[in-house]
Amino acid sequence: MQIAQATSENARAVAEIHVAAWRAAYRSIVPDDYLASLSIERREAKWSECIAAGDPTLLAAKKAGVVQGWLSFGKCRDIGSHKSEAEVWAIYVSPTAWSTGVGHLLWLRAKELMLEKGFKSCSLWVFPQNERAIKFYRSIGFAHDGAAAKNFELGGVLLQEVRFVSQFCY
Ligand SMILES: CC(C)(COP(=O)(O)OP(=O)(O)OC[C@H]1O[C@@H](n2cnc3c(N)ncnc32)[C@H](O)[C@@H]1OP(=O)(O)O)[C@@H](O)C(=O)NCCC(=O)NCCS
Repeated sequence: MQIAQATSENARAVAEIHVAAWRAAYRSIVPDDYLASLSIERREAKWSECIAAGDPTLLAAKKAGVVQGWLSFGKCRDIGSHKSEAEVWAIYVSPTAWSTGVGHLLWLRAKELMLEKGFKSCSLWVFPQNERAIKFYRSIGFAHDGAAAKNFELGGVLLQEVRFVSQFCY
C-alpha cells in the first residue's frame, strides 16, 4: 500500500469512494433519497478543484495503483480555532477495503505531515451513530472532547455531529 498526495488522475476514484462509502456507512443515518441523489460527477469536479488548489491536503492510499481510500486535512475550520490546530476534514475508505488497515495507514501519514507543519493537535467531526468510525478514531488516539455538538439539516432531517480531538505528544 502506498500513501501519497492525490493527483488529478485520482479525482474520479476519490469521488467514487466518497459516494460508495457515504451510501454504505450512512444508510441508517442520512435519508435514503439524499444518499441516492449523490453524484460521482459532482464530487469528481469538486475534488479536481481541491487537488489543483492543493487545499485541503488530500492523501490517497493506493494498492497496485488502485485508490483504496483517502484522507483530507487542513487547518481546523472551527470558529476561534488556533493555527496550531489541524482538522481531518474527511476520511473515506472503499467499503470493500474496510478493516484491512487502510485507514490506519492514511492516518499515520497524515499525522506525520501535520507534525512537520507544526500542528499540535487534530480534531474531526463525526455522526454519533457512526460506531465503526468512532471505534476507529478511538483506536488512533482521538477522544470526544466535550465540545457542543454541531446541528445541521441534511436531506430534510436534523443531524448532529460530535467533535473528537487528538493531542499530539512530543
Ligand atoms: C472509518 C474508516 C475510515 C476506517 O478505515 P478502515 O480502513 O476501515 O480502518 P482500519 O482497517 O485501519 O481499522 C479498522 C479496524 O480494522 C482492524 N484491522 C486493521 N488492519 C487489519 C487487517 N489487516 N486485518 C483485519 N483487521 C484489520 C483494525 O485493528 C481496526 O480494528 P479496531 O477498530 O477494532 O481498532 C472506514 O471504515 C470508512 O471509510 N468508513 C466509512 C466512512 C466514514 O465513516 N468515515 C468517517 C467519517 S467521520
